[in-house]
Amino acid sequence: MLISREMVLDQDIGLNATLFGGDMMSRMDKVAGITASLMSRNRRFLTVKVSELVFHSPVRAGEIIEFYIGITRQGRTSLTLQLEVQVYEPVSDQRRDVTSGEFVMVAVDEALQPEPILWKPEMVQVAEAAHRAREGRAKRA
Ligand SMILES: CC(C)(COP(=O)(O)OP(=O)(O)OC[C@H]1O[C@@H](n2cnc3c(N)ncnc32)[C@H](O)[C@@H]1OP(=O)(O)O)[C@@H](O)C(=O)NCCC(=O)NCCS
Repeated sequence: MLISREMVLDQDIGLNATLFGGDMMSRMDKVAGITASLMSRNRRFLTVKVSELVFHSPVRAGEIIEFYIGITRQGRTSLTLQLEVQVYEPVSDQRRDVTSGEFVMVAVDEALQPEPILWKPEMVQVAEAAHRAREGRAKRA
């Protein structure tokens, strides 16, 4: 499921004339938080774990990045998301993989203690269907 698109600006560029990796991690973490909120009625989420973060190819200023998510685990107080980031080139309509990673988000109460996730089943279904369709397209390509 496509969650958001962003533009990479000159000000985001690091020493190698490419997007700083920490900037990408921050953007992905925010997308994971937004996704958790979209999928539930909980007010707060904390990131408890990030794993298998891989930078596949560098991103340059002026490029548009797209954030796709798949829900890989629906726990009691946590959800696990697979995030895929791609650069989208509108002129050629081409995409390339740039970063991927797994994020575990925990729903927490006001005291920042874990609380049960109040799922929005309709949103989860939409996300799952979009993820399956995307995986199907990737296998056929
Ligand atoms: C998130 C936090 C409240 C969880 O507390 P906790 O004592 O580990 O809570 P629990 O053991 O009850 O686990 C809560 C959920 O997190 C999951 N979890 C905890 N540690 C995990 C880990 N290392 N990997 C994967 N999942 C984990 C548990 O499986 C559980 O999910 P479930 O209910 O769906 O099965 C606590 O670890 C915390 O505050 N961490 C800091 C978070 C933070 O500040 N993030 C911002 C980064 S600076």
